[in-house]
Amino acid sequence: VAVGGGVVGDLAGFVAATYLRGIRWVQVPTTLLAQVDASVGGKTGINHRLGKNLIGAFHQPRFVLIDPQVLETLPERERRSGIAEIVKAGLIRDEALFALLEERLEELIRLQDPRRVEEVIGRAVAIKAQIVSEDEREVTGTRALLNFGHTVGHALEAATQYKHLTHGEAVLWGMLAEAHLSYRLQKLSRGELRRVQELLGRLPRPPLPEGLDIDTLMEYMYRDKKARGRRLRVVVLGGIGRAEVTEAPEEELREALQALGSSGS
Ligand SMILES: NC(=O)c1ccc[n+]([C@@H]2O[C@H](COP(=O)([O-])OP(=O)(O)OC[C@H]3O[C@@H](n4cnc5c(N)ncnc54)[C@H](O)[C@@H]3O)[C@@H](O)[C@H]2O)c1
Repeated sequence: VAVGGGVVGDLAGFVAATYLRGIRWVQVPTTLLAQVDASVGGKTGINHRLGKNLIGAFHQPRFVLIDPQVLETLPERERRSGIAEIVKAGLIRDEALFALLEERLEELIRLQDPRRVEEVIGRAVAIKAQIVSEDEREVTGTRALLNFGHTVGHALEAATQYKHLTHGEAVLWGMLAEAHLSYRLQKLSRGELRRVQELLGRLPRPPLPEGLDIDTLMEYMYRDKKARGRRLRVVVLGGIGRAEVTEAPEEELREALQALGSSGS
C-alpha cells in the first residue's frame, strides 16, 4: 500500500511491478498532484540522472483511494503544484474546467470549499482516466496528450537536478513554453494564449535559475524517450480544451524557450 505523494507512488509501484515479476498494490495518494495525476494510469518508475522516466513499468494498482482531507497538511507550494496538473487537464480536454479554474483558482489553492475541491479532483481524475483508457500503453498516441507542458517541464527538472522546481512547477513553466509554441505554430490564437498566460501567471513559482541555457534544455529534450533522433514531437494546443501532438521545428521551440525569460518569472 503506497501512502504518500507521487514519489512514493512511483517508487512503490515500481517495486510492486518488479518484485516477483509483479505483485498487487494499492495507492493512497496524499498530495494534490498525486491525487489528480500520478496515481492514475499505472505508470511507475524512478528518476535517473540521464533523464526522467527512463526506468519504469506500467503496473496498475488494484484501486486508488483519494481522501481530499489529507490535503489540509500539505504546504501551499505543493497545493499549487497539484493545481498545475489540473490546469493541464482542462487545457487538453475540458474548457469548462479551465473556466472554473479561472473563476476560483485562489479559493481552490486555499482549499476553502471542500465540496468544490472534491469536484475538481474528480473532474481531473476523470479526464486522465478517460485518456488512459483510450490508450493505456501509449500505442495510438492519445495518452501522449497528457504530456502537455512535460517535454519542456521534464527538461527543466533534469537540467536543475530535480532540486530547484517541484514537478508541478516545472510543468507550469513547460506549459507556458508549449502554449507559446502553439501560438507560434498558429494553432492557438493570441487571445487564448493570453488566457493561458493569465491563469498560469496567478500560480507563483520560483524563477528559472540564472545561467540555464537553451542548448542544455534542447539536449535534455532530445534525450527524452519520446524524441525520435533529432525530431521532437511535442503536445501543442489547438485551442483551450484541445490538444494535439505535432512535430516541432527546433527553431520554434528555441523561440518559445526564449520567451520564458520574459513571461512572469
Ligand atoms: N506516475 C505518473 O503517472 C506520474 C505523473 C505525474 C507525476 N509523477 C511523479 O510524481 C512526483 C511528484 O509527486 P508529488 O508532487 O506528489 O511530490 P512528492 O511525492 O515529492 O511530495 C511532495 C512533498 O509533500 C510531502 N507530503 C505528501 N503528502 C503530504 C501531506 N498530506 N501533508 C503534508 N506533506 C505531504 C512529501 O513528503 C513531499 O515532501 C514526481 O517524481 C513525478 O515525476 C508521476
